[in-house]
Amino acid sequence: MKTWNDMNLPCQLGIGTWAWGDKQVWGYGKGYSDYDLKEAFELSISSGITFFDTAEMYGYGKSESLIGRFIREQKAAVIIATKFMPVPWRLRQHDLIRALEHSLERLGLKSVDLYQIHWPLHLRSLNTWMDGLAEAVERGLTRAVGVSNYNVDQMKRAYDRLAIHGIPLLSNQVEFSLLHRSPETNGLLKTCNELGIKLIAYSPLAMGALTGKYTSTHKLTRYRGIRFNRYLSRIEDLTNLLREIGQGHGGKSLSQVALNWTICKGTFPIPGAKNANQAKENAGAQGWNLTNDEITAIELAAEGIFGR
Ligand SMILES: NC(=O)c1ccc[n+]([C@@H]2O[C@H](COP(=O)([O-])OP(=O)(O)OC[C@H]3O[C@@H](n4cnc5c(N)ncnc54)[C@H](OP(=O)(O)O)[C@@H]3O)[C@@H](O)[C@H]2O)c1
Repeated sequence: MKTWNDMNLPCQLGIGTWAWGDKQVWGYGKGYSDYDLKEAFELSISSGITFFDTAEMYGYGKSESLIGRFIREQKAAVIIATKFMPVPWRLRQHDLIRALEHSLERLGLKSVDLYQIHWPLHLRSLNTWMDGLAEAVERGLTRAVGVSNYNVDQMKRAYDRLAIHGIPLLSNQVEFSLLHRSPETNGLLKTCNELGIKLIAYSPLAMGALTGKYTSTHKLTRYRGIRFNRYLSRIEDLTNLLREIGQGHGGKSLSQVALNWTICKGTFPIPGAKNANQAKENAGAQGWNLTNDEITAIELAAEGIFGR
């Protein structure tokens, strides 16, 4: 696979599965169950959303295991992206291959479509992990490779090292939403476009803060609360505008408007969904476009939420 387009995706967004098995941040088992996740999986596929992003870290392997089970039960043709976290006790190139083999076991697959380095930890050189990714492609364990949370300099070095192996860097997965626009201001999105690397936008709904259901009287909990609760009253001004703009697009929801904004920016968002309703709503973010004037108005409303 040479470019993102070679994935031949039928969708403009994917589905993120961090919450599929994660108790600490997302409260897996309280308020949503495997049954809900299976329905989210089925609903996504029937809506044409076949790209699933997971990681060995999510739920300590539970996310990958659930996806593997759903694929088998549904006999579904899906595109799977997973990730390797180079944590301290795994420092050799061989450890990456072993980790990928374990991911494949949990997923019940012979290969994945995209294998990503989860975080640019400095315990081993960047080249070690790029050489490991290249080996994974050469062994047929993944169709393509990507990175995640890499800054401009790290991404360029990853791109150059992979080029020595004749392998393209397909994607860089970073946080990108109306509440986290740094990829636009720090040159990352621009460099992605110049080098033909797809920016995969994670937490595109700001972990739920951009869905309109959390307010100063109904707050987020756990890590999400620490990050966003103090800004909720300001975020409400933005979500009110998103809601109003959605009305003008045949009744699109404000979550759909927030996701469509990331699509209009040329990125590939991977919103998390805990149930079929969320998956269905998020699928409706594709297939239409905000106008330039709407984009300008939304960005104006988003500016300064953190700085005021
Ligand atoms: N590479 C990395 O370092 C990294 C880091 C973070 C995330 N990611 C990836 O990106 C994916 C998405 O990011 P994220 O899960 O952090 O945040 P997100 O997509 O911004 O938010 C997802 C959460 O918002 C709520 N939600 C989603 N759709 C909704 C809807 N239509 N209506 C109402 N509520 C809705 C759900 O939580 P509630 O119902 O509980 O509100 C859902 O779990 C992850 O699953 C993961 O695959 C990668």
